[in-house]
Amino acid sequence: MFFAASSAVKMIGVPELKILLSREQIAKRVAEMGGEITRDFAGQSIIFIAVLKGAAIFLSDLARQVQLDSSFDFIGVSSYGTKASPNAGSTGDAGWDSTGEVRLTKDVDQSMAGKNVILVEDILDTGLTLNYLKRLLLAHQPKALRIAALLDKPSRRKHAMEADYLGFTIPDEFVVGYGLDYAEKYRNLPDICILGGPPR
Ligand code: IMP
Ligand code: MG
Repeated sequence: MFFAASSAVKMIGVPELKILLSREQIAKRVAEMGGEITRDFAGQSIIFIAVLKGAAIFLSDLARQVQLDSSFDFIGVSSYGTKASPNAGSTGDAGWDSTGEVRLTKDVDQSMAGKNVILVEDILDTGLTLNYLKRLLLAHQPKALRIAALLDKPSRRKHAMEADYLGFTIPDEFVVGYGLDYAEKYRNLPDICILGGPPR
């Protein structure tokens, strides 16, 4: 089992959080994912498109594990009415809710027509964001469009979606660190941690 939920991460000014995935586990898996992409696109160029802001750290590690000619782009989205409340449900629901509408806050800077595109996302939850982005990017008529997601919470899925390259399947917990935030905090934690208890 790859979960290391017993350790705790310490950072000044941050409550002690339980580690779900350690930096070592993440590094190992990200290296494997980079190897898969390198093999799948051997001899070709690719464009990584990272979804702001959560995928920034994953992109920087993943891209350095891919031995191919590549470039970066960034895309930004926000969900209307999104409410991040990790403890909203007494039922153990991770409490991430949105009205189901996604809005583009930053478009890509270049045409994706005829290119190999890898959309890089931190976490696949309800599937709403990636469904929206996949449709948007397919309209550019790329040569190939693949999705690389570090985490997947399949129990939360409302819109069918699967990552082509997936780091870890995790339980229905609200997680922070390694780019993932709660109210813009915790993105710089090196491990992926469970945010339990009321937000402080
Ligand atoms: P989806 O559109 O419901 O699949 O949600 C994807 C987005 O929700 C991710 O890009 C994250 O920004 C956010 N999200 C979902 N679950 C978590 C979590 O456990 N921690 C932090 N952000 C999350
Ligand atoms: Mg995100």
